Amino acid sequence: MISRRKFLGAGAIGAAIIAPPWRVAAEDAPYMVQEPRPAAVPLAGVDKPAVSVWGYNGKVPGPLIRARRGERLRLRLKNGLEQPTTIHWHGIRIDNAMDGVPGLTQDAVLPGGEFDYSFIAPDAGTYWYHSHAKTWEQVARGLYGLLVIEEETAPKVDRDIAFAADDWRLDGDGQIDEQSFGAMHDWSHGGRMGNWLTVNGLTDPVIPVRAGERLRLRLINTANARTLAFDFDRLAAHVIALDGQPVPPSSPGVDGVILAPAQQADVIIDIDGKPGDAIPVWEVSTRYRLKAARLVISGKPPLRDRPPEEPVVLPANAPLPKLKPNDAKHIELVMEGGAMGGLREGSIDGKMFSIRELVEKKLVWAFNGKAGMQKQPLVAIPRGRTAVINMVNKTAFFHAMHLHGHHFRVIERDGKPVAGAPWRDTELVKRNEQVRIAFVADNPGKWLFHCHMLEHVAAGMITWIDVA
Ligand code: C2O
Ligand code: CU
Repeated sequence: MISRRKFLGAGAIGAAIIAPPWRVAAEDAPYMVQEPRPAAVPLAGVDKPAVSVWGYNGKVPGPLIRARRGERLRLRLKNGLEQPTTIHWHGIRIDNAMDGVPGLTQDAVLPGGEFDYSFIAPDAGTYWYHSHAKTWEQVARGLYGLLVIEEETAPKVDRDIAFAADDWRLDGDGQIDEQSFGAMHDWSHGGRMGNWLTVNGLTDPVIPVRAGERLRLRLINTANARTLAFDFDRLAAHVIALDGQPVPPSSPGVDGVILAPAQQADVIIDIDGKPGDAIPVWEVSTRYRLKAARLVISGKPPLRDRPPEEPVVLPANAPLPKLKPNDAKHIELVMEGGAMGGLREGSIDGKMFSIRELVEKKLVWAFNGKAGMQKQPLVAIPRGRTAVINMVNKTAFFHAMHLHGHHFRVIERDGKPVAGAPWRDTELVKRNEQVRIAFVADNPGKWLFHCHMLEHVAAGMITWIDVA
């Protein structure tokens, strides 16, 4: 395997301007077509052969979708793949029928088929969309895009930039390593780790900026399994939202802005420098500092002499329903399995299987002794009730646990109460860690709760809750 660093260092010339986003949803707007299909894109750099991918409308990332909070989005999926597919609108507290989960909220859309998604996004923020069918392959091949829901009153920034980061596994020919799709080693260990980093489908892209400007960077981690972390070199940065929901501004620590697979963050950056300066954005999740992108300052005179003093504070979304811990439904979720996990057996719809039988089914992880999707939910909960899920990670790996249709907050970690944690749709649970989360189950329907490391969910780390 070519080392990530060497591969990245080899030809990071992809200097391209990030296309401006476009709006799709006005009231009564026609359906915007989202057609996943094979395409070839220059993700490895302009001096490298184009890479065969699957992209929405032939692009990676797919079209950047923008709508205002409360506006109806209408998107028509036309399946141009040779596999069934769906689209999931990650992080949106959506109408259940539009959640895009095959076998749970809709039938998968067959090749050549169509499905109309129509929904209102209740919260402003930075979200994303991705395939939810054979996700471990379809997302790895490029089927994702950004979904931006604008605030009614936009915060004062000079530039609004999308930053979708991905971790690809390319082979010796610089193409997607197809041989290793489904590799049991990835499925039973830390998932499919890549060796090539892109931002907005480009290698080390140039992001044009102007001195004195204030940027809003909308970061998402679309990688199958790798946690990413970003550092903005000498620039002052502050995080203003996580998983779409505003948080009080805070500076990222020395470890940078950390994004588990699927997580989103909004970061304000003040551009300080001279015309022509190129300021690297570093990916610092490993011991290597990898160049993710470059902020290149144009020749225009500075927009202001010194950065604005006040941090940007986002207007609150409609408040999430208040937790009622005293009247909560408590649910245990023991996470087991994987390599070095000691799982010996697991059940599927009430039938027991030995680990050997489970491995044959490619199910090597379990929640509460149940491997993979079950006919029965983890819990059925009446609408409006507070749910408290206690996650106990008995595996040798961390997991990025994602809940559909709701935002939750951590209320306890390793036995210690946590106050005022951000509302999130995905939370990292470290090995041997215990994390208690809470949310009000106010959105009726059938909602997945799974690890967002796409090999782990495929290999068993999945369950669902029924809100009625
Ligand atoms: Cu972003 Cu169930 O997924
Ligand atoms: Cu996992």
